Amino acid sequence: MSYQNILVDPQDAITTITINRPKKLNALNKETIAELHDAFADANDDADCRVIIITGSGEKAFVAGADISEFADFDVSEGAELARKGQELLFSFVANLETPVIAAVNGFALGGGLELAMAAHFRVASDNAKMGLPEVSLGVIPGYGGTQRLPQLVGKGKAMELIMSAGMIGAEEAKSWGLVNYVVTQEELLPLCKKIASKIARNSSTAIAAAIRSINANFDKRKDGFETEINEFGMSFGTEDFEEGTTAFLEKRKPEF
Ligand code: COA
Repeated sequence: MSYQNILVDPQDAITTITINRPKKLNALNKETIAELHDAFADANDDADCRVIIITGSGEKAFVAGADISEFADFDVSEGAELARKGQELLFSFVANLETPVIAAVNGFALGGGLELAMAAHFRVASDNAKMGLPEVSLGVIPGYGGTQRLPQLVGKGKAMELIMSAGMIGAEEAKSWGLVNYVVTQEELLPLCKKIASKIARNSSTAIAAAIRSINANFDKRKDGFETEINEFGMSFGTEDFEEGTTAFLEKRKPEF
């Protein structure tokens, strides 16, 4: 599929999706959100793809937010629709994807940019990254899951302060908060993400999908996380990967998933 606003690079088991609007600091307009939805869905359906990396093009920004020029004249119902559609198409979609998604945060991750990074399953940042949810400085609040995922990741007090102050934190502070797992230079960012992705890709993708569903159940009020884990654990005994994984262990060889 050809895209106007993103680049998709499938290599071996890892698909890298790059948001490619560097002149607009990769701001998420409607078209980019739709393209990202399609690219994530395709990668998730591709049996060869075992891990997805999402990043931004250029050296300045991961994503500097939702495209402010698109919603500046919206009314109340258009505002609600913007948030609902965005969450459905991209942010909740990514968070619930069964293929692991790593966000390589290579610069500004603001507003919708930080919300996209937080929807990914975990984050790695370059040392120039700056993160924040500055929406209240525009008279609006985060609408792509930011008020929910930030407190889940860093705790209520820190989330309250970051959102209320519309401030930005640097990469090291984000790491100390638990918002990103590692901080490296820009040159090291994608290589490190690919190294982690290769490690993940060696494991059972059906078991990883079950682990994602179970972990996510902890954050879904409609679900009982422990019950989900019990069911997913039981279901894994019926998979080919379980048979291969346990047989390979007993035969003292590496499993072929
Ligand atoms: N939506 C639309 N356009 C955006 C954007 C956004 N969220 N963020 C940046 N851009 C555009 C700018 O309008 C500018 O376009 P132009 O060259 O056509 O004027 C271009 O990207 C470069 O941005 P600029 O502001 O000139 O870069 P900077 O280095 O001076 O500042 C930021 C960088 C990130 C601090 C600044 O762009 C910014 O504050 N962006 C908005 C962040 C935000 O509030 N996001 C939440 C949105 S809900």
